[in-house]
Amino acid sequence: MEAFRPNYHFTPQKHWMNDPNGLVFFGGEYHLFYQHHPENALPGPMHWGHAVSTDLVSWEHLPIALYPDEHGVIFSGSAVVDWEDSTGFFGGKPGLVAIFTHHDRVPGTDTVRERQSLAYSLDSGRSWIKYEGNPVLAGGRFVDFRDPKVFWHPDTKRWVMILATGQTVCLYHSPNLKEWTFGSEFGQDQGLHSGVWECPDLFPLSVDGDPARTKWVMLVSVGSAGLPEGSCTQYFIGEFDGITFVNDNPPGTVLRLDYGRDNYAGVSWSDIPQADGRRIYLGWMSNGRYTTVTPTAEEGWRSSMTVPRTLALETRAGRIRLIQRPVRELERLRTPVLYLGNVPVTEAAQSLAELALDSFELIVETASLPAADFAVKVRVSASRQTVIGYNAERHEVYVDRTQSGLSGFHEDFAGVHRVKLAEDSGPVRLQILVDRSSVEVFAGDGAAVITDLIYPEPEASGLALTVSGEELLLRRLALYKLEYTE
Ligand code: FRU
Repeated sequence: MEAFRPNYHFTPQKHWMNDPNGLVFFGGEYHLFYQHHPENALPGPMHWGHAVSTDLVSWEHLPIALYPDEHGVIFSGSAVVDWEDSTGFFGGKPGLVAIFTHHDRVPGTDTVRERQSLAYSLDSGRSWIKYEGNPVLAGGRFVDFRDPKVFWHPDTKRWVMILATGQTVCLYHSPNLKEWTFGSEFGQDQGLHSGVWECPDLFPLSVDGDPARTKWVMLVSVGSAGLPEGSCTQYFIGEFDGITFVNDNPPGTVLRLDYGRDNYAGVSWSDIPQADGRRIYLGWMSNGRYTTVTPTAEEGWRSSMTVPRTLALETRAGRIRLIQRPVRELERLRTPVLYLGNVPVTEAAQSLAELALDSFELIVETASLPAADFAVKVRVSASRQTVIGYNAERHEVYVDRTQSGLSGFHEDFAGVHRVKLAEDSGPVRLQILVDRSSVEVFAGDGAAVITDLIYPEPEASGLALTVSGEELLLRRLALYKLEYTE
C-alpha cells in the first residue's frame, strides 16, 4: 500500500527525484525531465528522468534521457526547440536541444567542476545524442556554475542563458547554443542571500494582462538547507535588454514565490505556443532541509512536483506581484462533491463533517472581509489534522502542519507557515488542493501561495470548518474530488 503516493501530482515511478529539468513543449507534447538517481531513493549520480504529457495532467513515463558520461553527472538544465536549426543538428528542421550542467571534479583533485553541455534529439525527445563539442561553457572564477535556463530573445535575435553562479546569476548569449559570450552578472546585494543561488529562470510577462506593458521576471531558488526553514524561491521584477537585468525594486526587497516550505527549483516551460500564451511553472515539492529523510522512501520513491501553475503579473495594493494559479487542465480531474452558496460557516461545517476524501480541491470564499478567524481542516482523524486558516487580526493565511501526520523524521518539519494578504484583498478566497501527501493553498487570488508536504495516514480523510467568534457568511463553498483516471 502506497499511503503517500500522490493521486494527481507527478512522482518518479521509483527512486529519487529532485528538480524539474528541460521543461519544453514540442509537437503537442509537454516534456518533463527531472533530476533522478535511478539506484535508490537518495541523491546519487544524477541522470535526467523523463515523462511526457499532452495535457499537463496525465504523464507517460519514458526511459532515462541523459546518463552520466566522461564529463560528469547530469545536473539541472533546460531544453529549447531550435526552430531555425541554429545548431546545425537538425538538417534545417526544428528539433529539441537540452542544455545542462556537467558536474564532476577536476581530474586528480577534489575540486568540484561545473560546465555546461548540450544534447539533442532527432526523435522528439525519445533518444538523445550528446554534442561532441561538450562542454560548451566552462566556469572560470565560479565553483558553483550551474542550472542553465536558455531562451530565445527575439529583440536581439540570440539565445540567452541565465546561469546560477554562487551568490549571483550570470547572463550569456549565443547565436547557436554552442558559443557563449558573457553579458552581465546580477544579484550582488540584491534580494535574499541565505544560501547558494540555484535554478534561475527569466521570462517576460504582461502586467495586468496589458500586452503593451511587459516586465521581466527572474526566479532564483535559494538553497539555504542549513537553516531551519530550509530552501525557498525568490523572484525579481525588472527590465531586460538581452544583456542586462535591472531590478525595479530596491535591492533589499525580497519577494517570495511561495510561503510554504515545499516549493523549490521551479522553472517554466519553454516554447508554449503563442496562441496559448501561458507561462506555465512547475516546482519540486520538497525542501533541502529534510528531503532525504521524508517517509516515502519505504514506498520506493521520493519527491513529487507541485501542480503545474500559470504565472501572471498583477497589481495588488499598488504593487506588481507574481501570481500563481493551478493550470485549468486540472479541472478535468474534478468530480463535484458539494456546492453551497451563501451559507453560514456553521451550516457548511455540518455538510463537510460527513465527508471523507484524501485528494480533492476545496474552494472557500467568504461573502465579505471576515472580522473573525476561520479555519478549514483537512486530512482529519482523531489524532491528525492539517489546518488552513485565516487570522483576521493579522490579515494572514496560514497552514499549520504541526499535527498533520508523520513529522518525527526531522525536527524542523512540523510548523506553521504564514502569508499576509494584500491590504486591498477584500473577501477571503482559499483554493486548496489536497493530495495524499501535500497541500497547496492559493489565497489572495494567486498572490499568497503556501505549498506544504504532509504525511497523514490514509484514514485521516475527514474535513472540518471552524469559526471563532461571530458567525461568518460564505459566498461559496465548492468541493471536488480530484482523481486521475485513465
Ligand atoms: C537544486 C540543485 C541544482 C543542481 C541539482 C543537482 O536542487 O542543487 O542546483 O543542478 O540540484 O541535483
